[in-house]
Amino acid sequence: MRSFILLLSLFCTTSHQAYAALSSESSSTLSGSASLPPVSDKSSSAPSSSSSTFGSSSFSLPKLSSTLSSLSKSTPSSISASAASSSVTSSAATATSSVSGTVSTVATGTSLIPSSILTSSSSTSTGPPTEPLPTPIPVSSFAFSPFPSPSSDAPIPGIYPVASPKNPPPVESPGLVPDFAPAWTEAYKKAKAKIAGWTLEQKVNVSTGVGWEGGVCVGNTPPIEDFPGLCLEDSPLGVRFADFITAFPAGINVATTWRRSLFRARGVAMGEEHKGKGVNIALGPMMNMGRIAQGGRNWEGFGADPFLTSEAAYQTILGMQSSGVQACAKHFINNEQENFRTQESSNVDDRTEHEIYAAPFLRSVMAGVASVMCSYNLVNGTYACENDRTLNEILKGQFGFQGLIMSDWQATHSTVSAIEGLDMTMPGDITFNSGTTYFGGNLTEYVLNGTIPESRVDDMATRILAGWYLLGQDSPSYPKPNFNAFFPLDPATNQHIDVQDDHAKVVREIDGASTVLLKNVGGALPLKKPRNIVLIGSDAGPAHIAGPNEFSDQGGVDGILAMGWGSGTAQFTYLISPYEALQARARQDRTTFNWFFNDYNQAGAANAAIQQDAAIVFLQSDSGEGYITVDGNAGDRKNLTAWHDGDALVNAVAAQNNNTIVVIHSVGPLILEPWIENPNVTAVLWAGLGGTETGNAITDVLYGAVNPSGRLAYTIAKSPSDYPAQLVAGGVGNQILNITYSEGLFIDYRHFDAANIEPRFEFGFGLSYTKFNYSNLSISKVGGPDQDTALEANWAKGLPSPSGEGSSIALWLHRPAYSVSFQVQNTGKVNGTEIPQLYLNHPASAGEPPSILRGFTDVALCPGEEQTVTLTLSRYDLSVWDVVTQSWIRPQGTIGVTVGASSRDARLKGKITM
Ligand SMILES: *[C@@H]1O[C@H](CO)[C@@H](O)[C@H](O)[C@H]1NC(C)=O
Ligand SMILES: *[C@@H]1O[C@H](CO)[C@@H](O)[C@H](O)[C@H]1NC(C)=O
Ligand SMILES: *[C@@H]1O[C@H](CO)[C@@H](O)[C@H](O)[C@H]1NC(C)=O
Ligand SMILES: *[C@@H]1O[C@H](CO)[C@@H](O)[C@H](O)[C@H]1NC(C)=O
Ligand SMILES: *[C@@H]1O[C@H](CO)[C@@H](O)[C@H](O)[C@H]1NC(C)=O
Ligand SMILES: *[C@@H]1O[C@H](CO)[C@@H](O)[C@H](O)[C@H]1NC(C)=O
Ligand SMILES: *[C@@H]1O[C@H](CO)[C@@H](O)[C@H](O)[C@H]1NC(C)=O
Repeated sequence: MRSFILLLSLFCTTSHQAYAALSSESSSTLSGSASLPPVSDKSSSAPSSSSSTFGSSSFSLPKLSSTLSSLSKSTPSSISASAASSSVTSSAATATSSVSGTVSTVATGTSLIPSSILTSSSSTSTGPPTEPLPTPIPVSSFAFSPFPSPSSDAPIPGIYPVASPKNPPPVESPGLVPDFAPAWTEAYKKAKAKIAGWTLEQKVNVSTGVGWEGGVCVGNTPPIEDFPGLCLEDSPLGVRFADFITAFPAGINVATTWRRSLFRARGVAMGEEHKGKGVNIALGPMMNMGRIAQGGRNWEGFGADPFLTSEAAYQTILGMQSSGVQACAKHFINNEQENFRTQESSNVDDRTEHEIYAAPFLRSVMAGVASVMCSYNLVNGTYACENDRTLNEILKGQFGFQGLIMSDWQATHSTVSAIEGLDMTMPGDITFNSGTTYFGGNLTEYVLNGTIPESRVDDMATRILAGWYLLGQDSPSYPKPNFNAFFPLDPATNQHIDVQDDHAKVVREIDGASTVLLKNVGGALPLKKPRNIVLIGSDAGPAHIAGPNEFSDQGGVDGILAMGWGSGTAQFTYLISPYEALQARARQDRTTFNWFFNDYNQAGAANAAIQQDAAIVFLQSDSGEGYITVDGNAGDRKNLTAWHDGDALVNAVAAQNNNTIVVIHSVGPLILEPWIENPNVTAVLWAGLGGTETGNAITDVLYGAVNPSGRLAYTIAKSPSDYPAQLVAGGVGNQILNITYSEGLFIDYRHFDAANIEPRFEFGFGLSYTKFNYSNLSISKVGGPDQDTALEANWAKGLPSPSGEGSSIALWLHRPAYSVSFQVQNTGKVNGTEIPQLYLNHPASAGEPPSILRGFTDVALCPGEEQTVTLTLSRYDLSVWDVVTQSWIRPQGTIGVTVGASSRDARLKGKITM
């Protein structure tokens, strides 16, 4: 959201920043401890030269197997092709016109791949997952005409300036809607000129990855003439499979800072590291919605609210792309659980899709994102990577997305995906190392026999090259890939370039700012020169077997948990545990320092806690991507309780120590009921997944060098059954597991509010070492130059607006329409940052949840200091998606505005009337 602070008295006499007091220990840890990532299983078995049979120079027309058409008959008859296409065509009629219409029927089945050629999957396998059998699903097919670029309105200073993704507006630019259209137009011009002389095969090859392990990056496209090809690399928190990089805090921690400046700073730093390694497209941010609390990959994303996620995605992308790397918004769309993710159909109604799941992607398009990744799952019975409705109509149509859509790894299921909106298949082969591809020669054949128009292949190649030009990657100075994701020990390709710069500072600041203080009684925190403290629990210490990269893709946990597992990870160049940082800090006060790391010896832990000024118990809960199973958790968490019997550990310690402080490193919510009301548990800190500086950051917060200002990005319930949606277990053979999003708009706190369920800690909650007072709410309409009065008057009456290319990102919809001002004062005794939150309360007739987040900012205040805060609301912010007219409309009636300190801590109320 567009927010700003009017009074710019940002600095107190003493510094707000924690790392001003950085201890020398942390910097000494930085040097000398970088280790090479372990050699993956694959690198010892597969020589790279033989891993691709259709590499850069050998694309040729395939000898098409005659089994193709007969195999398509194995399509389950229960999902009929006509049903699939009619549901899509009927909605097409009301959406964009350019993609509607039909063409001749195409054989659209996908073949069944014998399981014997799948790469075997084990709990320690490296690299993106191998998947169960793909299931043939019919797809609809449409004539193609390229989407025109959304036309740019005239620039309006201060509201709608022309901008380039390499030079985006600063983070403090309230209400500003950067206009990237001219930059796209320029990039399209160059891309079209580039491919003008190319053969069909060359254009097809731009869109076809060279196959798993066919290059040094996790995804590679072949060079074509002087175009060097593209390097695509994970992950959303750092450069995966590379050394001398920074392991940043996970997305979930970024979200809990609720600070745009930190969203942006992390994006900038990650972008620099990817670029430094020669990556063209960095595969993040991840912006799925945390629909279910157990979802294995939730920690990669930004929590369970579409507005918070949208803002985090927007700033992350602006930051990454300003550093020169192309960002990739993923996973589009509805990939909300790991179980059966490749055979799961998320059945989602159109309004929920627009208002919840697609919203962060809309905001990503507004950030000028160069690429989007479609997901493994199906949506309404059609795979997300061949889904005309989601890819063509919503993303490229309504949202006016001009970049490229790539598949998740092995998520392509047909050649006609190209017509349905897919621009690039990754990693290129149908299954890892199969030597076959749906694009490549197959795509050429489909063009030659008239099934797929060549104009579509031109469009694919244009979109792919446009992103490269958009970010200036055609410059000779753009680094070439200088690492090797699969063979890190190969001296010929891995140059071991150190790209860390001083990003450890950004990591430490984000991690400290992300820490949420959930409980603090009797002034337990911050610690004040304790005589003695004891750390309890394995999560406090370093890995005791083998260093921070003991498990491939972090698929296991030994000691401190600072990252989940799967492809959304990076290697730790170093990892500061709480034990190391806290012991160094304790020495400053001559504190006696002890520890007890055996989670299961509760009697021993309790004994260690006797007569200690503070006993700090570290709990953890891990999850990740489904190709790795850890302790029976196949990606998704099997429960919402602390690992290693952590609840019993807390109670055992608290029985002996009346100042028991709990620190939680977790991928998502935990049920805290077994001990949260124990009076001897005096403080609780939610520390998430902090990345490489985890120990230093928790030390900053425990000792008050940082005053906690993190706010929960999801609800912590009293019982798992309180959540509106649960993990769908099961799934057999080739069947499609149906997951109906029956809770609709009512995910997370929206459900708790509507069903009147009291959570333990609500969305947006977090305490501080100081207190804040709110006053003087005022709401006014924003005027301004060059208003698009006809559309705005139309909207004000609650009427639909025209729907077409880019209609969802139109300026009139996103420019500030209302301004909400209020004052916040620090009424406590120490410096602190407050996170004011703005929620809308729609009239009942709108069918919205009782309260929805539509604004937030961060305000740093000295004791006694007061500031005026102004948040702006756009017409989009105030609208609901109208399924019938396919447009954003204003609900009838008066819209309530609540400003407060959490989703349930209302401080000021007002309303918007027309
Ligand atoms: C999922 O829904 C589809 C379409 O309604 C149906 O054909 C299929 O049998 C369902 N799958 C299961 C496992 O019930
Ligand atoms: C899925 O089906 C629902 C219910 O018919 C519809 O509202 C929605 O638009 C469909 N979504 C897609 C992507 O087809
Ligand atoms: C073409 O696609 C089919 C599946 O539609 C696949 O079986 C075949 O191997 C592909 N051909 C090549 C040369 O990759
Ligand atoms: C075009 O070629 C593809 C691949 O060989 C084949 O599956 C399809 O049936 C052909 N279509 C026509 C209309 O010949
Ligand atoms: C906590 O226990 C200590 C002894 O370990 C005692 O001195 C102190 O008074 C107790 N505090 C409370 C609040 O009970
Ligand atoms: C929940 O799962 C964790 C991780 O597998 C396990 O350690 C713990 O014992 C489980 N909790 C319960 C109550 O089963
Ligand atoms: C709290 O700690 C004290 C020791 O300081 C102990 O005597 C008491 O039983 C504990 N209370 C609970 C509820 O565990």
